[in-house]
Amino acid sequence: MLYLLLTADSFRESFLEELGRISKYRVIDERNNLFIAEIAEGKERQLERSVFIYGYFPIYNHSRLAKKSYIKSVYRCIAGLEIDRRKGTKLECFDINCRAGYSAKDIEVRVGTGLEHDGYNINIVKPSILAYAVLLNSVCYAGYVNLDGRRRGFIDTFRFYKHKEISRAEFKLAEAFDTFKPPAPRIAVDLGAAPGGWSLFLAKSGAAVVAIDNAELEYERIRNAGIDAVVVKNLHGVRLNLERMRRGTIVHLRCGFQKAEKCLDGGIADMLAIDVNSGGIASSGAVLRYSRFMKKGAYLIMTVKCIMRSVPKYMREVESRLGSRFRILRWKVLPHNRQEITLFARKR
Ligand SMILES: C[S@@+](CC[C@H](N)C(=O)[O-])C[C@H]1O[C@@H](n2cnc3c(N)ncnc32)[C@H](O)[C@@H]1O
Repeated sequence: MLYLLLTADSFRESFLEELGRISKYRVIDERNNLFIAEIAEGKERQLERSVFIYGYFPIYNHSRLAKKSYIKSVYRCIAGLEIDRRKGTKLECFDINCRAGYSAKDIEVRVGTGLEHDGYNINIVKPSILAYAVLLNSVCYAGYVNLDGRRRGFIDTFRFYKHKEISRAEFKLAEAFDTFKPPAPRIAVDLGAAPGGWSLFLAKSGAAVVAIDNAELEYERIRNAGIDAVVVKNLHGVRLNLERMRRGTIVHLRCGFQKAEKCLDGGIADMLAIDVNSGGIASSGAVLRYSRFMKKGAYLIMTVKCIMRSVPKYMREVESRLGSRFRILRWKVLPHNRQEITLFARKR
C-alpha cells in the first residue's frame, strides 16, 4: 500500500527509523520532508500513533505526467480513483516540483471542471470526499479520504492555514489539542506567552489564562478577538489568586518566570502550556517549578526544542527529568513544529 508521508526536515533520520519499526517499507519517491513509501497494509493505526510522521495519506493511484497533456494526465489519475460520482467531492492539488506553467490552483479548477462535466458531484463548500493529487518528480500521486470527522483538509497540512492569527505558534497549540484531545482547561498557565497566540487560543477555549513573558503580547489583536487582556508590569506586592480569575480572559504578568512564580497562589491550574526557545532541559526546570500551581491530573503541553543530535536520547532525558511529577502520555511532531517535538503529559 502506498502512502504519502510527511515529516519535518530536522527529523528525517528519526522518521526513517520509526517507519522501519512500524513496517517494512520501500521509498518510491521523495523530496525534502515528503515521502511516497510502500508500506505493509493495515498499519494505519500505527502511523496515527507515530511521533515523527505528522501527515499520512493513502495513495491509490499514480501515473506519469505527460508534458503535452498535463492537465489530462492529472484528470486521468483522479478519475482512476473510482470515487462514487454522487458524493460531494473536492479536489486539492499540491504541485511540488513540476514546471508545466500551471499553478496548483489552476490545476484544481481545470481538473475539477472536467470532473463536473463528466458527472461528478463537485462540492467545494461542504465536501464529503477529499480527493488529492501530489505532483512530484513528474508523477501524479492521487488518493482520497472520507471527510467525515476530519476537520483539517489535505492542503492545509502543506500550506498550513491562511494567516489571520497572531503567530505560527498558535497553530502548534491548535494542532496539539487536535492530536492529544485534552479536555478544555478552566485555568491555564502559559509560560513564554508572547506575542500571545497560545494564550488567545486557551482563552477562546474558555480558560482563565495567566500569560507569563517579559515581552509584550499583541493586546489589541487579542481584544479584537473579543478576549479581555490585562497586563501587569509592576509586580511588586501582586498576588494573583488563580481561582478568582474570570474564565475566557488573560492576565499577562510581564516578567520572567522566576519573578512571576512569586505572584501566584494556589495549585489549581488544570493546564500548563510552555513554548520557549531554550532547549527542553531548561524548560523542564521551569515546568517542575510551576508544577506546584497545577492540580493532580492537570495536563502539560510543552514544545521541546531538540538541541542534541540524538533525538530519542534527548526525549528520554526530558522524560527522566519530568518523570517524578508527570506521566508522559505522548510525543508528536506537529505540522507547525520546527526542530521541536510537542510533549503531552499529565501531572501525577
Ligand atoms: C516562541 S515564543 C512563544 C510564542 C507563544 N507561544 C505564542 O503563541 O505566540 C517564546 C517566548 O518565550 C519567552 N521566554 C523565554 N524564556 C522566558 C523566561 N525565562 N521568562 C519569561 N519569558 C520567557 C520569550 O520572551 C518569547 O516571547
